[in-house]
Amino acid sequence: MPHRILLSIAGHGRVATALRTQATARGVVERFVAGETPAQAVAAGSVLVAGRLGVTYNFLGEYQTDPERIERTRNAFIAFTRLLGDSGLGGPQSELSLKLSALGQLHGSDGPARALDHARRICAAATGAGVLVTLDMEDHTTTDSTLEIARELRQDFPATGVAVQAALFRSPADCADLRNTGARVRLVKGAYREPRSVALHRRTEVDRAYVRCLRTLFGGTARPLVATHDPRLIRISAELARRHGRDATTFEHQMLFGVRSAEQRRLAAAGHAVRVYLPFGPDWYGYFTRRLAERPANTVFFLRALAKSGASRRP
Ligand code: FDA
Repeated sequence: MPHRILLSIAGHGRVATALRTQATARGVVERFVAGETPAQAVAAGSVLVAGRLGVTYNFLGEYQTDPERIERTRNAFIAFTRLLGDSGLGGPQSELSLKLSALGQLHGSDGPARALDHARRICAAATGAGVLVTLDMEDHTTTDSTLEIARELRQDFPATGVAVQAALFRSPADCADLRNTGARVRLVKGAYREPRSVALHRRTEVDRAYVRCLRTLFGGTARPLVATHDPRLIRISAELARRHGRDATTFEHQMLFGVRSAEQRRLAAAGHAVRVYLPFGPDWYGYFTRRLAERPANTVFFLRALAKSGASRRP
């Protein structure tokens, strides 16, 4: 139910404006989003790196069809890569997270080819600065094309990573395909509302599928990027690492900015590689509402802040 309320107000520009301007509400946004500008992202990233955490920077933006905006997005990623280098944040401590739909993947039959071309240029710039790149996984209609683009990119940029969503029925097979490629594979539960024909919906089933995918990835040459905050799954990944004789340099933990930060620091202090997914940019609203929808407690907090701001009242 809170999820539905949230989605029904998610399209209101006035809600976003209220969140920007009203102090309590802005605090809710700032918990999950590092800021609107590259400079704010670099500032937040520097703090994380000083605490021995890696960072994956996500310049927020999704589904784009306008060629000019797509080029601007690509150029913004390239400029951001340079900024990382100039700020002393080059190298594998930094990673870029790309949403291919923001690079035109879904725009017409040649969308995937054009998105690949844009992604290639971003990867070239990132490689120049020693920065890693990983492709986010969006809804299930993009899975085939995203895995194919990741495969193409790995030919020239072998460190390119790709996310796999445990909730999809197909993911155990996708993990089996990736298992011995040496690829960096970010395993997530899945954040999109998928139809029952393609995805598991029960939490326990998704968790079981996650473990199955973890077993496959840890048993091969892939570098698992264990992207979950779930304590049980984190424990299981440690057990699998032990069983397969993997040391902490062969896999990493990834978590979202603002979620279980103490656990991020604990894992890093225990010698694990930990990377924080740091979203930034003016297009933060879609990402923000997904984070709220994941947790009823977040949604309640958000609605209270909204009520205080008066944004939910009709003019
Ligand atoms: P779960 O939702 O069960 O949460 C476990 C515990 O973590 C909770 O009990 C709570 O303590 C804490 N927690 C989790 N989410 C929280 C929140 N929003 N607020 C407060 N506490 C929270 N998805 C996708 O479809 N495609 C992608 O490319 C990515 N990429 C990605 C990168 C990284 C680094 C991460 C960590 C996650 C993603 N995701 C994603 C999102 C992912 O699919 C999933 O929706 C979230 O990670 C939440 O799932 P958990 O595995 O953390 O488990």
